[in-house]
Amino acid sequence: MSKITLSVIKADVGGFVGHGEVHPRMLERSKELLSRSHLLVDFHVTRVGDDINLIMTHERGVDDPEIHGLAWDLFKQVTEVAQDLKQYGAGQDLLVDAFSGNVRGLGPGVCEMEFEERPSEPVIIFMADKTEPGAWNFPLYKIFADPFNTPGLIIDNKMHKGFTFEIHDLKHGTRISMDCPEELYDLLMFIGAPGRFVTKAIYSRELGDIAACSTTTKLSLIAGRYVGKDDPSLIVRCQSGLPAVGEALEPFAFPHLVSGWMRGSHCGPLMPCAVEDARPSRMDGPPRAIALGFQLANGKLIGPRDMFADSGFNKAREMANEMANMMRRQGPFEPHRLHLEEMEYTTMPQIMRRLERRWTAIPEPGETAKELIAAGKAQAQGDGSEID
Ligand code: 13P
Ligand code: 13P
Ligand code: MG
Ligand code: MG
Repeated sequence: MSKITLSVIKADVGGFVGHGEVHPRMLERSKELLSRSHLLVDFHVTRVGDDINLIMTHERGVDDPEIHGLAWDLFKQVTEVAQDLKQYGAGQDLLVDAFSGNVRGLGPGVCEMEFEERPSEPVIIFMADKTEPGAWNFPLYKIFADPFNTPGLIIDNKMHKGFTFEIHDLKHGTRISMDCPEELYDLLMFIGAPGRFVTKAIYSRELGDIAACSTTTKLSLIAGRYVGKDDPSLIVRCQSGLPAVGEALEPFAFPHLVSGWMRGSHCGPLMPCAVEDARPSRMDGPPRAIALGFQLANGKLIGPRDMFADSGFNKAREMANEMANMMRRQGPFEPHRLHLEEMEYTTMPQIMRRLERRWTAIPEPGETAKELIAAGKAQAQGDGSEID
């Protein structure tokens, strides 16, 4: 068989109710449209919160205009269903109406990889809502570079050489590749700032093959205004020289803090949950991650298995709820509310403009006392009373 391409293209084209979920009729329409296409070997449609994810296999390679066109037209048509049902933010992620062969830069998120299907090809598709692409930095570091998470890095001959991380700087539109473990400390300097540096892809140094890739769209950089967070997706290939399935899931046993949540402007725990539970409501959150496992068989998606529908992740969900309580108590104070530059939603420019004239220079030391004395004297002269 020739090489297979696994493409995940996702968008929020309307929320049910508010930003919590996707209406079943929108999902039905998505499935119907994909089943009509002759381009695909197989597909699976799912949703996490208010984001529709199209998981597709085909033989056309990455960045294929027909595949991107299929997803773009689908999102357009599903937007019409959303409009009929007056869903919230219908067409939210379709920012630029100028499709010319690729959805990148237009709003939808895309991650895709082309590879030779191995004798057994387990893959996990992670999908999140109410957060941003940099949210994967922490788990990807744990999976591919931390031997406390992934024993295979030490005891599997095919993993011992480590992995290469491709990092994108979203602010400058540049990228860099870093080899781990040698460049671990340099890598962490960047990916520890997930609002700006994101992990686009990871490659096995032993196999020379792609192991993971993620969506890296930054909607606010496309639109220049708040349009919702760039709820991200991630593909991870597993086993036989790549992380075991359990090693890929393990980082999610700790609900690390991510940016997003209410109005895309708050920090909160990323809660791993079953697809069934990926319907955020408390403060539009807390942020959710789901994981669907498939075995590929000649491009067919055998599955999915709902990987976080495991009581082994109950503690993580409990911890996420406790962390959510803790963060919520900080209300509008950082770090629950995001740093000024990170907030996707702000009144700061308007408030600043309105209060512009009321801001005065802070007096030099001693100046305040002199001003007060002078004011006192003026008042004394005015009302005739004696001070001195
Ligand atoms: P593989 O080397 O076959 O991927 O086996 C590792 C494993 O599954 C350990 O859990
Ligand atoms: P989404 O990015 O999931 O649409 O959420 C936006 C929001 O404002 C939630 O409060
Ligand atoms: Mg939404
Ligand atoms: Mg969303």
